[in-house]
Amino acid sequence: MTIHTTYSLKNYNSFAIDACAERFVEVFSLDDLSAVLRENHPKMLILGGGSNMLFTGDYPGFVVKIGILGKDIIQETDTDIILKIGAGESWHSLVTYCVENDYAGIENLGLIPGTVGAAPIQNIGAYGVELKDVFESLEYVDSRTHDLKTLTKDDCQFGYRDSIFKHQLRGNAIITSVSIRLKKSKIPEHTSYKDVQSELAIQNVTTPTIRDVFDAVCAIRKRKLPDPIEIGNAGSFFKNPTISHAQFLDLLLLHPEIPHYSQSNSDEKIPAAWLIEQCGWKGKRLGEVGVHPNQALVLVNYGGAKGSEIIDLAYEIQASVLEKFSIKLEMEVNIIQ
Ligand code: EPU
Repeated sequence: MTIHTTYSLKNYNSFAIDACAERFVEVFSLDDLSAVLRENHPKMLILGGGSNMLFTGDYPGFVVKIGILGKDIIQETDTDIILKIGAGESWHSLVTYCVENDYAGIENLGLIPGTVGAAPIQNIGAYGVELKDVFESLEYVDSRTHDLKTLTKDDCQFGYRDSIFKHQLRGNAIITSVSIRLKKSKIPEHTSYKDVQSELAIQNVTTPTIRDVFDAVCAIRKRKLPDPIEIGNAGSFFKNPTISHAQFLDLLLLHPEIPHYSQSNSDEKIPAAWLIEQCGWKGKRLGEVGVHPNQALVLVNYGGAKGSEIIDLAYEIQASVLEKFSIKLEMEVNIIQ
């Protein structure tokens, strides 16, 4: 491993913000990671694929990119398989590998940018499936004690774009591997998401395989979401907010067409993209930053934008949604200062 100083992070964050790290290293093993931790650097940032991070300026500390690779079958029965995957593996490559090997469970999660180690932090989810649905356990190194620890699914306290890593373990857990349980099958379990159904119908697929669902999801995402290689972005910038049933009924009177998903406790989840679009932001461009024309949840860097310009746009969007709907949008992206 090589430690770099004053190192550009442009290729290490999907917004393609040209911020510099004071020090930068990529670690490829637990031994590398232990050696870095022994330095006891006072300000350290752990980086996966950088697909959910917004650098607002240069990072005055030590950026440690996790490059630990490997996919191992650690348990197998006639019906199930448990795979242990190195945190540095690309999530999309893992999904592709599973589809190619007829391991069912994560085919709906194709084309999500980022690494396997970052996936549990926000419990990645799309098209009716979340990581928690297949999650078995993970290993992490505690950055305070340097011990390697294991967490089960219950320990991780997964919720919508949420986990223990955003709360009690925030900033202290360096995920080094994730284990998932998949079915040895070509048959997908989750095909009811509206967009997936329409895409399968367009393809004339009536009895879909996991390959069909994966292809459908990739086609939808390619159509709606900008490829970070071409236009810097971090996927959904905001979470979909949940509001009380009473607030929902008030809004329904003013906006009878409001889309919503009823939650088990009678709260309602509202698509943030709809709220943003209603405020006139969809497709808007301000200099080098903007709101994507095909998906209003995605803020983009058209080239050369500073992180601070993106965050300013995000604040403006939050303010207008709050004013029009009395809903406070919460950011999904991590703001790094
Ligand atoms: N909508 C709009 N305008 C838009 C886009 C969407 O009004 O520009 C409304 C429509 O009513 C649409 C609804 O929002 O039916 C839902 O849209 P979509 O299916 O695209 O999903 P989303 O709620 O906007 C979430 C995730 C995405 C994930 C999709 C598909 C969050 C914050 N985002 O978006 O995740 O791919 O569902 O499951 O939950 C990501 O996290 O980076 C991400 C892309």
